[in-house]
Amino acid sequence: MKTNLLFKSLAVAAALGLGANGAMADTFAVGDGTFLLNDEPFVVKAAELHYPRIPKEYWEHRIQMVKALGMNTVCLYVFWNIHEPQEGQFDFEGQNDIAEFCRLAQKHDMKVIVRPGPYVCAEWEMGGLPWWLLKKKDIALREQDPYFMERVKLFEQEVGKQLTPLTIENGGPIIMVQVENEYGSYGVDKPYVSAIRDIVKEAGFDNVTPFQCDWSSNFTNNGLDDLVWTMNFGTGANIDEQFAKLKELRPNSPLMCSEFWSGWFDKWGANHETRDAKDMVEGIDEMLSKGISFSLYMTHGGTSFGHWAGANSPGFAPDVTSYDYDAPITEWGTVTPKYDLLRTTLQKYSDKKLPAPPKANAIIEVPQFEFTEFAPLSAGVQRSTQSRDVETFEALDMGWGCAVYQTILPALPMGGTLFINDSHDFSQVFLNGQYIGKIDRVKNDKAIAIPRCAKGDTLSILVEAMGRINFGRAIKDFKGITDGVTIQADDEGHEVTYDLKNWTISLIPDDYEIAVAALEAPAAPAKERGYYRGTFNLKKTGDTFLDFSTWGKGQVWVNGHPLGRIWSIGPQQTLYVPGPWLKKGQNEVVVLDIVGPTEAVSVGLKEPKLDNLNLEKTNLHNNPGDRPDLNSATPAAAGQFAAGNGWQTVKFDSPATGRYLAIEALSTQNGKDQVALAELYALDSKGQRLSREPWTAKYADSEKEQGNHTADKVYDLQESTYWQTVPGATLPHLIVIDLGSEQTVTGIQYLPRAEQGAPGSIKDYKVYLYK
Ligand code: GLA
Ligand code: CA
Repeated sequence: MKTNLLFKSLAVAAALGLGANGAMADTFAVGDGTFLLNDEPFVVKAAELHYPRIPKEYWEHRIQMVKALGMNTVCLYVFWNIHEPQEGQFDFEGQNDIAEFCRLAQKHDMKVIVRPGPYVCAEWEMGGLPWWLLKKKDIALREQDPYFMERVKLFEQEVGKQLTPLTIENGGPIIMVQVENEYGSYGVDKPYVSAIRDIVKEAGFDNVTPFQCDWSSNFTNNGLDDLVWTMNFGTGANIDEQFAKLKELRPNSPLMCSEFWSGWFDKWGANHETRDAKDMVEGIDEMLSKGISFSLYMTHGGTSFGHWAGANSPGFAPDVTSYDYDAPITEWGTVTPKYDLLRTTLQKYSDKKLPAPPKANAIIEVPQFEFTEFAPLSAGVQRSTQSRDVETFEALDMGWGCAVYQTILPALPMGGTLFINDSHDFSQVFLNGQYIGKIDRVKNDKAIAIPRCAKGDTLSILVEAMGRINFGRAIKDFKGITDGVTIQADDEGHEVTYDLKNWTISLIPDDYEIAVAALEAPAAPAKERGYYRGTFNLKKTGDTFLDFSTWGKGQVWVNGHPLGRIWSIGPQQTLYVPGPWLKKGQNEVVVLDIVGPTEAVSVGLKEPKLDNLNLEKTNLHNNPGDRPDLNSATPAAAGQFAAGNGWQTVKFDSPATGRYLAIEALSTQNGKDQVALAELYALDSKGQRLSREPWTAKYADSEKEQGNHTADKVYDLQESTYWQTVPGATLPHLIVIDLGSEQTVTGIQYLPRAEQGAPGSIKDYKVYLYK
């Protein structure tokens, strides 16, 4: 059989390796149903750690932490955009020194799995792709666009220079290398994935075991014959089910879950995510009892410092700064009950007594201090351009920060409605300098009412960029105003549309140096938008959590180190400050707040606040006025779903048209009232999946907000997240999706929860489309 041959030839290639020091190096190979380390069966127990999310001073500490947990491998992504901040300028020094990170792993006798992208997802700005790729406006990302492929190749060559001396055949710790990342949730394109494989091999990883990771539901779409296939899934998933298809297609393949999700990431405006420790450990125990390799994503999540947190989609959901992930090791590097429980289990599968975890780093308090210096946002403007049309940040050669778009209005005697198409991401609108309101992409806002104004009045729109989307087709996420701005107004009984032109665009990049320069001539703080500086003194340094719960929205630097983003809506209200970034004596804190604080103070706490939501409105979709009356409506389909995990398709007898898609759950497979639904697609007239990017949740009769099981989870492209009704709410249940515009639909695809028995899965259903 073809697959058998592949596995043997890899084994032979690796077995010939000599180490850099001339001694026989270790060998790593793919054997029959197992990985082989020095020809002995080897179960990979990997801990996913991200070097840019851990201050370099703590790298070794965290590696020792995962070693003490019972892991034998470290798994890491390579984040292209931190290594090539500008086209052609590479940086692998200091905090970016990936080779050093791998050497530290080796020092502690840990193997390494490298995942060099080029796309990595990871809740990281643009999934690791550099923003400057978007200067080529028509670029096709993660496809065989010549410019994209040329830049990928140059980058991977640089990664090769750093890391190929550390492959196992060269006496280093690197045993496996990943090709692309979960391509199945992006598209179907084997030629592209093959081209990435070739680039990675040509970069010098030709003798390291190459693999792909994907979901059990889609891995065959892009699976290449000569790569090992591994599955990604989360805590609670039905493990046999996850590997069933792979076992059928490749009975001799070693089994590996290359991302077993220990917890989940947090989004601004949604509750802190957690996953049960016992469920997580049971999943690992089950895999190990079956000889299945795994990488625990994340074992320690760390922090998305600076502006590096990404955003999820569909439904624009920017990620918070903390990447704690409810992982076994906290964001700040301490043990948790999850850690202890997992360590006990991993001890069972280790023939040696596990080493004790290293000592925890000191945590300190900082007494409340005030921000006494202030400069207005305008002091940070670096450049202004005149342009007939609005331009994106990328077109104006700016990666991150804010821009002010300003123009002169026509007379609007009755006022009007202002539309920003599209606002990426958080816009504040001003009329003659007076604040009118905001257009928030997270809330899917598109328009705002403006009061009556005279000819010649000034409109200003301050747009702040959040992280670029890191998942799905929307990763091509331009910042600023992407298309245009219009006003609809009533002119003596008929509607007029003004397409606003002739803009002055002022750019405010989010650099520390700019903030400091702006503060050179400080004024007294006035609770306005702008730059703030405060200081505090320390006798002893240590980790701490600076509290920003009285602030608006923006970014923070401590002694010049970017700490990350803040936003009053939460759930995160504090920022992690690593002890090594503090010093004895005076410490400086600079804040850029584009909304303005209610009180310009902070305090260093001993514990973070990661779960304090502070919303204007709830995230529920239960407005009674949005509930359709379906009593006399004819369903597009009605029937019974099958029981069990996995996707199911319903084809309508005849196409149905409408803007709103309603699913009514009349009964459940387990006879209980609680319903859950993980993912939903609508099929177009060709039977293809409609894009879900314009989708929003219109209505759900019941949503479990605790745990973020709101209705939008049915189209967030994540199979492990789901809409769930609250316990006690009785059947039937109803969910309504706004498709964004009228569509003709010929069927739906439905995915119940991934857990064993698909809890909450629907039995009798009715589907409706209405206008
Ligand atoms: C996927 C990706 C990861 C990460 C996780 C969610 O598995 O491969 O990079 O985004 O989802 O945390
Ligand atoms: Ca989902």
